[in-house]
Amino acid sequence: MFHLETILIRFQVLVLCARSSSDGKGSGGIPKNTVSHIYSASSQSQDGRIYDRKPFKMRLFPKKNYMWCLCGLSKSQPMCDGTHKLPHMKCELKPIKFQVEEEGDYWLCNCKQTKLRPFCDGTHKAL
Ligand code: FES
Repeated sequence: MFHLETILIRFQVLVLCARSSSDGKGSGGIPKNTVSHIYSASSQSQDGRIYDRKPFKMRLFPKKNYMWCLCGLSKSQPMCDGTHKLPHMKCELKPIKFQVEEEGDYWLCNCKQTKLRPFCDGTHKAL
């Protein structure tokens, strides 16, 4: 009987751990881009130009595709408006396609230096 209770408790802990790692939040409660593993643009190592030293709060909806501006040149910040494609900009950075799992207000990075693209990770405080 004792072993059965121990096994049940361990199973419940495992289920709770599995749920907390798949709730769309990364470490420290910062959301994660649920499609970053699909698009190669997410792995660009270079950061964009600083657009602003504070994040932008925006209501986002699940399963909708968004394009976050990485280059910092867009006039529709924090989203991409295609400016990076203009030949005279000589920009090699591509926007980051992303989705969220839940509807809500999200802080999107505007300094373009975050390590958790496209979400603000607090890096702007050190700029
Ligand atoms: S605005 Fe870029 S990390 Fe906060």
